[in-house]
Amino acid sequence: MKISEILSAWYKINARLLPWRRTSDPYLIWVSEIILQQTRVNQGLNYYLKFSDRFSNVNLLAEASEEEVLNLWQGLGYYSRARNMQFAAQQIMNDFDGHFPDTFEKILRLKGVGNYTAAAVASIAFGEAVAVLDGNVARVLSRLYGITTAINTGAGSKQLQALADQILDHKDPGTHNQALIEFGALQCVPVNPGCENCPLQQHCIAYKDDTVRSIPLKLKKVKIKMRYFYYALFEHDGYTYIHKRTGKDIWKSLYEFPVLESPTLLTDEEIIPSLISFLNIKSDDVLIRSISDPVKHQLTHRTIIARFIHIELTSSEFKVPADWLKIPKETIGNYPLPRLIDRYLEERW
Ligand code: ADE
Ligand code: SF4
Repeated sequence: MKISEILSAWYKINARLLPWRRTSDPYLIWVSEIILQQTRVNQGLNYYLKFSDRFSNVNLLAEASEEEVLNLWQGLGYYSRARNMQFAAQQIMNDFDGHFPDTFEKILRLKGVGNYTAAAVASIAFGEAVAVLDGNVARVLSRLYGITTAINTGAGSKQLQALADQILDHKDPGTHNQALIEFGALQCVPVNPGCENCPLQQHCIAYKDDTVRSIPLKLKKVKIKMRYFYYALFEHDGYTYIHKRTGKDIWKSLYEFPVLESPTLLTDEEIIPSLISFLNIKSDDVLIRSISDPVKHQLTHRTIIARFIHIELTSSEFKVPADWLKIPKETIGNYPLPRLIDRYLEERW
């Protein structure tokens, strides 16, 4: 038997009786898919019932007040999805004469609808042969075919989409897609999948290789760290101070102005006292000329928010740290600088 035949046989026995499976109305199927994108069937069911009761057709949703739509959505989170849904309902009224668009390509034009939702509605409501791929389907397929490319990468989803297309049942794509989704929700679940009584066991590479627990592979999203830099741009008789960055951190060997780095954002009131104490100078010896607006600089895994504080030194008593370099202001261009500083100086110095 082919994989799709096994799946649909399994689905006949195991499919839950859910209200959106008893309708062929594309509008209601679309509503169910949007709701199920952000919640499990158990919790989504109630929202679907409320929504489909109050907004039983696309026109009622298009003409409702935004407040009422958001109230029904309360608790589901991601309120932009509810707003997008109402906007899409208005698109259907205005651009599609009130008829739900009936192909994958047209459904994709609705606000808030991506490949997954368009494929789900096109296949379930219109029988179009387009394969769905969401997190559940990705898990099933990557185990079945022993895919070790991370599923949350471009290469991974391309490979999985090709497999999803390959096993799609063109005679009944709607049932096939729902069977695959249901199989991921009930049988091939993330933790402790039911491999022992699985009808696909003999086809399953991960089962054969005993790699079920390590598939699907996901690339860890590296958290973007925020860093806050407060640069002291000294001026004294046409001179300024810079120093060379050392250590394992970013911008090693580049030059920069003396900098206070703070793990948190400083308020405007905190900046000067913190900087003065960090630089170990007396507030009598300096005149704060200006503080720049925050400048944002994006590196791969960090966002730097920098502010440049222009400081006039009014006394020569200030003891300069040994690693600072006193240079004539206009020679700063002779030193390699981080792009962030370079850009700032182009505009401000
Ligand atoms: N999750 C996403 N779509 C679904 C559907 N049609 N049935 C059950 N769970 C789902
Ligand atoms: Fe999923 Fe296990 Fe079945 Fe493979 S054998 S498809 S891992 S439930």
